Amino acid sequence: MAERDLLLGIDVGTGGCKALLVDLRGEVIAGATTEYPLSTPKPLWSEQDPEHWWQATIAGITQVLAVANVEPGRIAGVGLTGQMHGLVMLDGGGEVLRPAILWNDQRCGEQCDEIHRRLGRDSVIRRTGKPVLTGFTAPKILWVRAHEPQVYRAVARVLLPKDFVRYRLTGTFLSDVTDASGTSLFDVGERRWSDEILEALQIPRAWLPEVTESPVASAAVSAAGACKTGLVEGTPVVAGAGDQAAEAVGCGVVEDGRVSITIGTSGVVFAATETLRQDPAGRLHAYCHASPGVWHLMGVMLSAGGSLRWYRDTVAREPYEVLLDEAARVEPGCEGLLFLPYLCGERTPHADPLARGAFVGLTLRHGRSHLTRAVLEGVTFGLRDSLELVGGLGVAVGRVRVSGGGARSAMWRQLMADILGVEIATVNVTQGAAFGAALLAGVGVGVWPGVVDAARSVVRETGLLHPGPDRAVYDECYRRYRALYPALAPVFAATGPGGGT
Ligand code: XUL
Repeated sequence: MAERDLLLGIDVGTGGCKALLVDLRGEVIAGATTEYPLSTPKPLWSEQDPEHWWQATIAGITQVLAVANVEPGRIAGVGLTGQMHGLVMLDGGGEVLRPAILWNDQRCGEQCDEIHRRLGRDSVIRRTGKPVLTGFTAPKILWVRAHEPQVYRAVARVLLPKDFVRYRLTGTFLSDVTDASGTSLFDVGERRWSDEILEALQIPRAWLPEVTESPVASAAVSAAGACKTGLVEGTPVVAGAGDQAAEAVGCGVVEDGRVSITIGTSGVVFAATETLRQDPAGRLHAYCHASPGVWHLMGVMLSAGGSLRWYRDTVAREPYEVLLDEAARVEPGCEGLLFLPYLCGERTPHADPLARGAFVGLTLRHGRSHLTRAVLEGVTFGLRDSLELVGGLGVAVGRVRVSGGGARSAMWRQLMADILGVEIATVNVTQGAAFGAALLAGVGVGVWPGVVDAARSVVRETGLLHPGPDRAVYDECYRRYRALYPALAPVFAATGPGGGT
């Protein structure tokens, strides 16, 4: 029999499914990504076909095994991660009833209000760690009940995206505490489904999967799953984690007080905590983390890297390197130009689907290089909003580990050090959530005794930047930035979702 010396992480993302092979020292052997489409049948809707996730998982696993030329019998364990909050509904025969409604779908504002009315917003925050937001799962279930009663009547099971893939791979209905924390149905302090919320919303408990801690080897590849993917029947599959928690594991952000920032399309400020810390106002969100007895706080900007991509594609039309080079030559503060990065509404600190982006303070002196720098500064001010909330909840933030596409630019990293007033560290692993899922698989099959041990033995800091002399200038700009949202919110509200026409 082959030696079981490899781990497989699978990330069921929004753009595609990534399969990553990692050895038992945490070295990446090979990776493969298979893309799938996203559909927007109506404005504000965002859906995907769960069968596409499963087909892409099969393709990803087959491809990664072929590229690395390894026997599937060498895989000691599989870890699953993926986009959070999405709603998959299955009938009694395990068939998909309708397209999955995704984390970035904005259709169910009314249902969020309804849940707050029925349970009380404060009590929802106390139990689930945050208010109900349009992206989360519970309001989506209520939306289907209100708008598609024929679908609702046929529901036998409700699953999150990566857990649907687990069902196809192993035949079991299971989830983990981090992903369950994003449903608005989970008691984050107790680390279990909230019977009180389920009863109040009349959602049957039997629809929901059993939940375990993330590194638990709770299932195994079935004969049918093995036949489709080429994996060996009986290979252990750990519960895994939502993409944010898995990404943090992959950056070594598991121990109390560790903080990371990930700049992809969104911008995520993430802090691991050994006690459950709650923001009573619900601006910052509390989740169970992927290590037992650990929680995390999270602030999410919906358009971080997304703002820069929009700016590059629609305004500047030049490659990132050219734009960043130009921006580096502009004075800090862009001669009074500010950018508000709410291009698709915002989650933290202003949970407002109607918030919009803005350039404020333009003069004839401003050119493209100022606009670029203003976008970078504006996004980083948005990250500072979340980081200040983290500090306000008693986490002493001295150093932040950065990951994601935005962290690749040294200029942006220095901007983060200056604007956030903290040390900015890069780490040796840049494979994101799939890597964290592979580490969780390793813990589940006994390669490391715990998640903290896995992270300590595998993740190293590779570079460190300190705040520079421009800090005081940025403090002043940040004060003006903070005044923008309250000043513009009435305009955003009057504009409304349809654009005010
Ligand atoms: C987390 C979140 C996103 C999705 C998609 O709260 O909404 O990170 O998980 O990646």
